[in-house]
Amino acid sequence: MLKGQVVSGDFGKIVMRIKADQQVELGELMVIEDAQEKFILQVYDLTYGSQISQQNLEMVSGMNLEEGSFQIMDESLRNYQLAFLKPILTITDSSKTCKKLPSFFTKVRAIQKEDLFFITKPSTPLFLGNVRSGSQVLDFNVFLPGKDVLSHHVLIPASTGKGKSNLMSCILWDITEKDYAGMLVLDPHDEYYGRSGLGLKDHPQKNKVVYYTPHNPPPGARTMKINLTKLKPEHFQGAVSLSDPQRQCLHVYYKKFKNNWIRFLLEEKKIEGVHFHEDTIAVVKRKLISLLDLELEGSEINCKGIFDNVAGENTISEICQELERSKTVIIDTSYFSGALEIMIGSIITTEMFSLYKYYKRLGQLEEKPVISIVLEEAPRVLGKKVLEQGSNVFDSIAREGRKFKIGLIAITQLPSEIPKNILANMNTKILLGMEMNSERLAVIESSPQDLSQDSRTIASLDKGEALVTSTFTRLAVPIKVPLFKDFAKVQKETYTMDDSFLS
Ligand SMILES: Nc1ncnc2c1ncn2[C@@H]1O[C@H](COP(=O)(O)OP(=O)(O)OP(=O)(O)O)[C@@H](O)[C@H]1O
Ligand SMILES: [Mg+2]
Repeated sequence: MLKGQVVSGDFGKIVMRIKADQQVELGELMVIEDAQEKFILQVYDLTYGSQISQQNLEMVSGMNLEEGSFQIMDESLRNYQLAFLKPILTITDSSKTCKKLPSFFTKVRAIQKEDLFFITKPSTPLFLGNVRSGSQVLDFNVFLPGKDVLSHHVLIPASTGKGKSNLMSCILWDITEKDYAGMLVLDPHDEYYGRSGLGLKDHPQKNKVVYYTPHNPPPGARTMKINLTKLKPEHFQGAVSLSDPQRQCLHVYYKKFKNNWIRFLLEEKKIEGVHFHEDTIAVVKRKLISLLDLELEGSEINCKGIFDNVAGENTISEICQELERSKTVIIDTSYFSGALEIMIGSIITTEMFSLYKYYKRLGQLEEKPVISIVLEEAPRVLGKKVLEQGSNVFDSIAREGRKFKIGLIAITQLPSEIPKNILANMNTKILLGMEMNSERLAVIESSPQDLSQDSRTIASLDKGEALVTSTFTRLAVPIKVPLFKDFAKVQKETYTMDDSFLS
């Protein structure tokens, strides 16, 4: 379909006159076919153009408004719209980053499914949605190379209500049936399993979905209990703020009493040759009791929350095994305080991390699935303020997890709160609509592709419309994420021949 013609511009700002009967939207993909090659371009701005001087236009408008109907002769020739296009790719035999200008005065047409022939399906596909041109959805599925994308971290930034959770549900649904990744989901809104309504519990392979909740587990789900003897001092990092002496206190008790360190610390058992300030022990005790939801009656510890004296011996190792079998493990953290949620995430992640480090030493890591940890409201653990108080396991994973096949999926409304070096380490970003300029800027600055002209397009994204920028794609791909309830219905056979933007 003919959309217009190139009339002026420079590289990165090609000006197209839009054909009078055509509509062009921000973000729309266009194609120019030259003799030897094909260019794919994207609309990033729109403006009016006219052959009539501004003064005369104002005059005509005045006559029209004040004296009734008044027409311009040959209006569709004299008045028009202009679109600004940026070239994103040239296609000859293969796809290449664009370095040339298309010929002057060439015709521009709308993109079609067939123009994307150069894209092939990766061996570990991760489905994200359909290619989108403006708000028009093409019948072409977008798959990324899942194994690489997940281990090199994913950021999903968007304003509230733009479809972050919906996208995450689709991703989880898609990955659950695949064997290349285990997903750990910390779910503070208890929305992914679908206790009431559609969710991962309805997956055809529900044996690959494991759900832990502290209260009234539905049939097939497990009660979240963790044995106190399984806790280690490093699990508390990021969950509670501890001064240096307080942290030392934890470590000294752990070193001395191993599995029983919490019990002996709460009993204030003396350690020969070590003397802590009374206040230090008192504060540490108070913090542990409150975080772990314990009660002290004489020397008895009563457990009121998810930490237990007796039960939960194997919970953590079971979760790690399930992840290793490429299952999707959802932990309902909706009953927990923020600190407790972080602590639980931190316990599992720390154990998984050391397990995978061990496999790497043995040379067995290659055959293991990627582990991806889904964090809602990620600045709670990756925020600048939190990290100023000390590093935590999520921060370590963001920095070096990819070497051990462990990645994060960080979901957030406020990407600007995450330090730049961590943002830059997130090699795939799935941008949904973002109204705030400062948030858009933080993401644009750290994007693998140049999105400096796309701020307006990102601001105008509707629910479920996204832009995927990744070191594993040749271009920033505009996509439409399906609505989860429709997606879950679709049988996987319908994923046809389409493919990924793998370079
Ligand atoms: N891909 C989509 N297509 C159509 N509608 C969508 C899509 N994604 C989300 N929506 C609509 O937007 C609503 C909000 O989506 P969702 O809960 O995923 O947003 P969110 O970004 O997670 O919001 P919050 O910041 O509140 O967590 C959904 O209930 C749904 O109606
Ligand atoms: Mg949400």
